[in-house]
Amino acid sequence: MLDFTFYNPARIFFGRGSIGKIGTSIPFEACVMLIYGARSAKRFGVVDEVKQALPGRRVLEFGGVEPNPDYETLLEAIAPARRDRVDFLVGIGGGSVIDGAKFLAAAIPFDGDPASLLEDKGARIRQALPIGAVVTLPASGSEMNNRAILSRRALVIKKAIMNDHLFPRFAALDPEKTFTLPAKYIGNGVVDTFVHILEQYLTYPVGGHVQDRLAEGLMLSLVDNGPKALADPQNYELRANLMWAATLGLNGLIGAGVPQDWAAHRAGYELTALYGLDHAETLAILVPAMMKVRSDGKRIKLLQYAKRVWGLDDGDESIRMNAAIEQTRRFFERMGLSTRISDYRIDGFCVDRVIEQLEAHGMTALGEHGDLTLDQMRRVFEVCS
Ligand code: NZQ
Ligand code: ZN
Repeated sequence: MLDFTFYNPARIFFGRGSIGKIGTSIPFEACVMLIYGARSAKRFGVVDEVKQALPGRRVLEFGGVEPNPDYETLLEAIAPARRDRVDFLVGIGGGSVIDGAKFLAAAIPFDGDPASLLEDKGARIRQALPIGAVVTLPASGSEMNNRAILSRRALVIKKAIMNDHLFPRFAALDPEKTFTLPAKYIGNGVVDTFVHILEQYLTYPVGGHVQDRLAEGLMLSLVDNGPKALADPQNYELRANLMWAATLGLNGLIGAGVPQDWAAHRAGYELTALYGLDHAETLAILVPAMMKVRSDGKRIKLLQYAKRVWGLDDGDESIRMNAAIEQTRRFFERMGLSTRISDYRIDGFCVDRVIEQLEAHGMTALGEHGDLTLDQMRRVFEVCS
């Protein structure tokens, strides 16, 4: 196991009615800005429930954060927040809203060019307002990590920033708030969570037995509960387990002390920026193809994954590895996500354009060994076309 430092300041309120408890984490004298998406948080009463949990605070609202949150949209919140001296932000929604709240937490107190906060993967962030998260779509794990993924549609970029100032102080996880999700987003959430775990697991062994077993347990739980939740979406127990798995999948726990990959995510961001695909759709397309093209470098962990997650334990190694890749593909498809680019309505998909974007954004040596070249990425796109 590699040396590591683990830090996570988030307080978790989990379960029915957990939103009612968030007042204990927000000072009475706070001026709070509630940040949410286009309509679901308002329409399904979650914004009102948050307001009821904050008696005595001054509360402002900023709605309209779109999926794959855009820098230009978020800039509109800065002036009103500064004018009213907002000193606490609460994101109410999925990963897009929570990431938008994280960016604003850094941008509102910053007196320079907010675009510079997106440079150097967020390393220039020196301070941020305190943030809370109320999750309505379990997927990103943003509610308990220090990352945010921002888009600049005008520049056709989507990029990750990471900074310990961006950790939410608290997250309210009420599974009942996910009951209004369309099946599409239940599927997206399970696939995104599953791939977060794979990005931190399917690399090479470093003796992280605890991390491996935790990761395998989360994946087994998703394989068990994901399809059941599609069939029985109002089942609290199923939704509660999916919600907790999403949070644990990317809060630093299973990634501590082990090598991490993230090639599928980084290439996926380019597909979203260029073609508007949902984040999870890009992963469903890329991951089986990447597993195939990169199976040699992942052999030991791929065989462990085949055995411990899919029960594939006998026969020729390459047959087991291919069978595990196919099981993964079929699982994504059972969750409602196609795994081939040709299955999506992408006008004028062009591999050269994606490769150009990867190169332009410095994504020329991806993966846990930093050895995934643009030529291999081209091969990945051939496999998943
Ligand atoms: O905008 P509203 O009306 O709220 O509708 C949203 C949105 O259209 C809807 N929705 C959310 N909760 C709902 C609901 N509809 C009905 N009932 C509810 N309870 O769902 C749509 C999608 O929401 P979004 O937040 O975009 O989805 P998700 O949670 O999958 O987040 C995706 C974003 O997370 C980023 C992705 O890049 C993408 O931008 N990620 C963030 C990470 C992080 N911070 O660590 C890591 C992840 O890998 C990921 O990259
Ligand atoms: Zn993701």
